[in-house]
Amino acid sequence: MVAAAIIVDGRLLLAQRTRPPELAGLWELPGGKAEAGESPEDALRRELREELGVEVSGGDRIGDDVPLPDGRVLRAYRVELVSGTPAALDHAELRWVDGRELGEIDLVGNDRGWVPDLRLHLNGW
Ligand code: CDP
Repeated sequence: MVAAAIIVDGRLLLAQRTRPPELAGLWELPGGKAEAGESPEDALRRELREELGVEVSGGDRIGDDVPLPDGRVLRAYRVELVSGTPAALDHAELRWVDGRELGEIDLVGNDRGWVPDLRLHLNGW
């Protein structure tokens, strides 16, 4: 599983989940599942195209791997926007948060451990 940290002007893009019911309303770094044979970078590019309608590049790791209950691993990558303006094509809403807001918003549990690493790149904390 791959997730993207898109940071512009000291703010991080978060997306609000619509599903499943137990995660709906919580905020996450956009991303999703790599398909068979797909590299993490390709998976991230595809997911962000599908979910946000943007093209991205880059992909330095940020934060630690998060082991998921099903045995898979969730990894965050820092990516840069290349083209397009993020839109909530698959989420309820998008928000750009600074470091203080990141500490206050309701993140999905899997993403919470990344907060200290993410904050190093954000304004306002
Ligand atoms: O659409 P797809 O099934 O590829 O992905 P998704 O529904 O967005 O994400 C699948 C699972 O990844 C979620 O149920 C979460 O467990 C996990 N996930 C997460 O915990 N944090 C993220 N930032 C992204 C995904």
